Amino acid sequence: MTVPSVQDRIDAYWTRRAPAYDDHQQRPDRRELDRAAWADVWTAALPPAPADVLDVGTGSGHVACLLAALGHRVTGIDLAEGMLERAREHAASLGVAQPPRFLRGDAVDPDLPAGSVDAVTGRYVMWTLREPVAAVRRWAALLRPGGVVAVVDSTWFPEGVATGGEAFTAAYDDDVVAALPLAEARSIDATADVLRAAGLLDVTVTPLTAVLDLDRAHGVAPGHEVRPQHLVTGRVAG
Ligand SMILES: C[S@@+](CC[C@H](N)C(=O)[O-])C[C@H]1O[C@@H](n2cnc3c(N)ncnc32)[C@H](O)[C@@H]1O
Repeated sequence: MTVPSVQDRIDAYWTRRAPAYDDHQQRPDRRELDRAAWADVWTAALPPAPADVLDVGTGSGHVACLLAALGHRVTGIDLAEGMLERAREHAASLGVAQPPRFLRGDAVDPDLPAGSVDAVTGRYVMWTLREPVAAVRRWAALLRPGGVVAVVDSTWFPEGVATGGEAFTAAYDDDVVAALPLAEARSIDATADVLRAAGLLDVTVTPLTAVLDLDRAHGVAPGHEVRPQHLVTGRVAG
């Protein structure tokens, strides 16, 4: 697997950030509330369990572990070793019949057989993805007939990545941002347009109001603002 050097900088950033990122994902004051809210989001978006699901840019495995607990057979891929380490720790203590497997892999070109999964998920990944249209086309090729792509994201940096703080912009510098077409998107419609351009059918955008309510009630990670998140879905022909 060869990936461009901008991706190396992205991977190093997420490996450094993995412990703090994951601690925030596991915040005890909202862990169970998050679990319930996200279980509703993914249950509505995905085929009934058990389905074969690829979670791209899986990070510390929040989505992958939740989907495995819902009865899906899940593979999570990421390029940041620090994130994968955390994800594997969570999988080991999950206590489900079939925990997710976590592999190092590029979301832009996942190394899975064509037609081998029922769904591709990705939470907070589209904004930091190189070549998003080509990536979604490749995800579509991994799907069985009628399979779905379901991604969740926001417009995190509508005023530019420079608003993201020093440690962040040291990694997400001009070269990196130039390689990420959605990093500074001003509307979630840009993500929906990517799914359409990749040939997906019935593309929908759904605001995640329960998640927004939780963020407003409990706050978000330090240095971040509460922002509306959306589920964006599309499918391949049945
Ligand atoms: C904001 S985190 C989201 C993590 C996780 N999906 C979640 O919901 O918590 C973004 C993740 O995307 C990963 N990532 C970025 N570009 C990637 C690529 N091309 N291939 C695989 N993973 C990638 C990063 O390493 C990081 O773990």
